[in-house]
Amino acid sequence: MARTHRIAVIGGDGTGPEVVAEGLKVLKAAAAVGGFAYETRDFDFSGRRYLARGGSPTAPTIPVIADEELAQLKTFDAIYLGAVGDPDVAPGILEKGLLLRLRFELDQYINLRPVKLYPGVPCPLAGKGPDDVDFVIVRENTEGLYTGMGGRQYVGTPHEVATQIMCNTRHGVERCLRYAFDLCRKRNDQKMLTLVHKTNVLTNCGDLWFRAFNEIGEADYPDVRRDYNHVDACCMWMIKNPEYYDTIVTGNMFGDIITDLGAMVQGGMGIAAGGNINPAGLSMFEPIGGSAPKYTGQNKINPLAAIAALAMLLAELGEAKAADAVEKAIAHVTGTKLKSMAAGKMGYTTTEVGDLVAEAVAGA
Ligand code: IPM
Ligand code: MN
Repeated sequence: MARTHRIAVIGGDGTGPEVVAEGLKVLKAAAAVGGFAYETRDFDFSGRRYLARGGSPTAPTIPVIADEELAQLKTFDAIYLGAVGDPDVAPGILEKGLLLRLRFELDQYINLRPVKLYPGVPCPLAGKGPDDVDFVIVRENTEGLYTGMGGRQYVGTPHEVATQIMCNTRHGVERCLRYAFDLCRKRNDQKMLTLVHKTNVLTNCGDLWFRAFNEIGEADYPDVRRDYNHVDACCMWMIKNPEYYDTIVTGNMFGDIITDLGAMVQGGMGIAAGGNINPAGLSMFEPIGGSAPKYTGQNKINPLAAIAALAMLLAELGEAKAADAVEKAIAHVTGTKLKSMAAGKMGYTTTEVGDLVAEAVAGA
């Protein structure tokens, strides 16, 4: 009996459902190559549904995901997410109600973002090619500035006070660091892990990260070279010398920022994928571009980022052969077919790009 993976599919908003549909096309081909079975189930957690159920467009008056739905999600092996964000719903409502809620409730404490320039993809950095851009960012995903700790007082008065606390725990930092060390060790022969923080100013959180990094590295990963960059310097090096990096590990907010920088370095939102990972539990994979409302329903959006997210999902499920076949198929399509990564300029429609990748997987 072939193993069966149960995958929850959240198309989400805007072009999310369209790109996920192409990913599922590729999944079908990948399952044949990898010799596994799968089941999918769609969950509608869109902004449209939120509004249709009477949610306010300006304040989170009802949950985006009901508790029973969350309980159902927990029975799946992986989650495949399209996009979150609807122009008719105020920013923050869907992001917090869906994406952040799942990250926290499912304890997806790793945000994994490969920064890989595929062949044929134009790099905005002069003179840099696929050999120069191939690193991975491990972002802590459940702490830092994202916990919601802090508060406000005297709102709307000249004395308004607002605080947002960067909260880190030894437990949270340590498990993230260990994941990064493990990944770095097996990634390639470079074995260099760069901690990115701001230890010269954030002397509480920065010191916690820095000490844990060195203690854990020295005790358990002596074969991994330890490197440190301040986050501002990292932004410069990533542009000037992306080939310098192997594996980067960082906190939540800095990670949010430098992963978008990484997305541009690898050719933009059309190709950048990420995973919200609970290494011992339920993980969720997504293209990191937004819902691109202006392209919705036009068959113009680039589905490759969603397909790359599918490859990550397969790798996390232990389907290395299938994941590899999808990766290679993406490289084949970027290297020999697409004119551009940009929506409407690929030389193909969304569905045609999905077909090309699925065919390449099937031919693997
Ligand atoms: C990301 C996104 C989210 C984040 C938003 C949508 C809440 O930017 O996944 O990087 O800030 O983490
Ligand atoms: Mn982000």
